[in-house]
Amino acid sequence: MDIRVMKSEDVPFAVDITDEEGWGYMEEDFQRLIDLEPSGCFVASDDDVEVGMLTTTSYGGIGWIGNVVTKSDRRQERIGSEMVKHAVRYLKDKSVGVIGLYSYLNAVAFYERIGFQESFRVARFSTIAKVSENRGARVVNQEALPRVVGFDQKYFPGDRIRLLGRMLKDFPELFFSIEEDGDIVGYVLGFCSPKACEIGPWMCDPDRPDTAENLLIDCLTTLEDTVSAIAVSVDNESAIQIVKRQGFEEEFQVSAMFFETGDHGMNLKGIFGIGALEKG
Ligand SMILES: CC(C)(COP(=O)(O)OP(=O)(O)OC[C@H]1O[C@@H](n2cnc3c(N)ncnc32)[C@H](O)[C@@H]1OP(=O)(O)O)[C@@H](O)C(=O)NCCC(=O)NCCS
Repeated sequence: MDIRVMKSEDVPFAVDITDEEGWGYMEEDFQRLIDLEPSGCFVASDDDVEVGMLTTTSYGGIGWIGNVVTKSDRRQERIGSEMVKHAVRYLKDKSVGVIGLYSYLNAVAFYERIGFQESFRVARFSTIAKVSENRGARVVNQEALPRVVGFDQKYFPGDRIRLLGRMLKDFPELFFSIEEDGDIVGYVLGFCSPKACEIGPWMCDPDRPDTAENLLIDCLTTLEDTVSAIAVSVDNESAIQIVKRQGFEEEFQVSAMFFETGDHGMNLKGIFGIGALEKG
């Protein structure tokens, strides 16, 4: 078995193999992942036939593994473990100290055998977005982006400028912040494929749950009538209450796991919503 870097030519394979799991990716989603981490998305092949894949996304000191999947007729042959170990080596070579992933609950033992430890649970919710009165969130522009990134780092221990900049470029109408006295106190973004939309990161000063709710409401208004999903740490009680109040229903839970540590450095109180689970 050979593990190589995923290229644009592999994107149709990535869509096909993840479609079998019902993950709903479009080609542009994988192209975005490759653009964000050009040397860190991988395909496993055997005799030149693709048998598995995964992606990584790194933000300096913290990095994420996602989209781990082996062809259904080639499981139990250690392809999955070898791919995950390969991704861990890649991230360690980049001096990424904290390596995380979100695992389905039935895959926790698989990752534990490789050295990951469970840290916290995340619930994924969905709803059909409805329109409400404007709550005062402003659309973020390029000028505000560095300040949004600075705010993000209060709660997330990495530099997400490339991710947030790319989201602003691809979905400019879905990126909102609220400021007070010239300081960002919260932001949220949404991103859509033709099939559905996701919301997150949704970050806010934990002492301002009303602001967090206003951000979510303004984002949902823009997403009117689309199926919208959000993932929330079950330990962030404010966020759980807000999403339930806004009509979201829980679909399933995943476990946040970290390689050889439970110490991830994230301040979960300010992380109201996680965007795409594969990117952290
Ligand atoms: C999880 C997955 C990638 C493992 O791939 P693999 O190539 O079979 O991995 P390995 O051969 O290295 O390890 C297989 C072990 O993982 C276990 N396992 C963990 N999660 C599993 C899952 N969701 N489904 C099936 N087996 C799973 C198997 O029981 C097996 O354990 P065993 O060797 O003690 O019997 C593969 O089962 C898969 O693609 N599942 C569907 C996609 C998925 O759920 N991905 C994980 C997202 S968090």
